[in-house]
Amino acid sequence: SKCEKLLAEAREAGNLPRHIAIIMDGNGRWAKERGMPRIAGHNQGVKSVKEIVEVCGEIGVEALTLYAFSQENWKRPTWEVSALMKLLMRTIHNEIDNLNSKNVRVKTIGHIELLPPETLKQVQSAIDITKNNTGLVLNLALSYSSRIEIMDAVKKIAKNISQKSISIEKIDEEFFSKSLDTWD
Ligand code: FPP
Repeated sequence: SKCEKLLAEAREAGNLPRHIAIIMDGNGRWAKERGMPRIAGHNQGVKSVKEIVEVCGEIGVEALTLYAFSQENWKRPTWEVSALMKLLMRTIHNEIDNLNSKNVRVKTIGHIELLPPETLKQVQSAIDITKNNTGLVLNLALSYSSRIEIMDAVKKIAKNISQKSISIEKIDEEFFSKSLDTWD
């Protein structure tokens, strides 16, 4: 595939990215161009992503972040949100053994507690089953917003300061990075 070829070339050249992030958009447009319903586009999105996960794992990329569902996406019509949640749940259910056997570790960023309970359960079980794996980190951004991630970090730091457990001088880039969700 195209993805495989690109990454193999990058590895040859010694500049394989350590972390790749994918914004899963264009699903609706893909379907529209073919006169198909939006959900057919989302199904196709899952197909592409499966292939990318596999190639990244084989070639030795350390982490792959999939921007699968943003905070903004909650504003979509109820039927579409619900179809996406079911698709996410079904995909994890279908793929978990395969991911686990390929040593993939599933992680998330975002406010996953806002997901419907059955979807959340599936996501948490994937995290749990794969937590000791040492291969590709598959990071799913779910109910994610970068502004909220930053805001959460600011709140955490502000709380520490107000409780006098840290001083303002301690805040540098490294300290801030460690306050973000993306920090282990
Ligand atoms: C954006 O395309 C895509 C989404 C909002 C959802 C993507 C998520 C899934 C397919 C769920 C499954 C995810 C995983 C990780 C298994 P769009 O509808 O905005 O299309 P457009 O850009 O053409 O409008």
